[in-house]
Amino acid sequence: MSLVVCPDANMAAMYLADLIEKELLAKPSLVLGLATGRTPALAYDELVRRYHTNQRLTFRFCTTFNTDEFVGMGPRDPRSARFFMNTHLFKLVDMSLEQTHVPRGDAHDLEQECKAYEAFIKANGGLDLVVLGLGHNGHIGFNEPGSTVKSRTRQVEFTASTIAALSDGERFRSVDETPTQALTMGLATILEAKHILLIATGIGKRQALHRIFDGRPGPAVPASLLRSHPRFTVVVDQDAASGLKDSESGTTYVARDAF
Ligand code: GLP
Repeated sequence: MSLVVCPDANMAAMYLADLIEKELLAKPSLVLGLATGRTPALAYDELVRRYHTNQRLTFRFCTTFNTDEFVGMGPRDPRSARFFMNTHLFKLVDMSLEQTHVPRGDAHDLEQECKAYEAFIKANGGLDLVVLGLGHNGHIGFNEPGSTVKSRTRQVEFTASTIAALSDGERFRSVDETPTQALTMGLATILEAKHILLIATGIGKRQALHRIFDGRPGPAVPASLLRSHPRFTVVVDQDAASGLKDSESGTTYVARDAF
């Protein structure tokens, strides 16, 4: 595992964009897992900028699979993961939407949708690289506490703390408006990726980040289960990392000099 501590959230996003760009240049047909959220969005903005400045960078040959979608939400809903990805990345680079996949939260048969999504990831050879954000309670995708390393794409129920975080006014204005369920890629699928990238920035993510490294990994903090992965890169800023001891997190690289 490597932990990369960047001076601030923008630098962390740049570092994440660097890693994604490098992998895309090395393998243009990359199978990429992607998350939504404010934190990865900064890295997507940076990737779009680089797409316009680096002529070698192309998204034409990659395939993407998003980690989750809200149940009941169609792709035209501005609050859906599909809409978010289209407007933050997919429609801003040389991608056709056919290369991009987000589970359909409005599917008639959600169980079948999950099965088909999982099978399609497998048919594409699994994920090369997956980009994840961190939920306040340690969730990744929408693998809430209690999720196991054997979990696959499925329908899940949100915890009260996730509903509270989602209804902060930015995407959902109140608890009543906030969905209570999602379809999420499972931890087994994520753990099968060749490289896992997790980004967490800001003081609000400090506790969740610490819990990844505190004690033994377990389903109470789903992100801690990624520690067993041979290529797990955690990119954070100093606010999120404050107080984290090297002994807790294993390898620490302070990326300050990299900029
Ligand atoms: C949601 C998403 C996650 C994301 C998390 C953190 O829960 N399902 O994929 O990682 O939010 O989002 P943010 O970066 O906005 O804090």
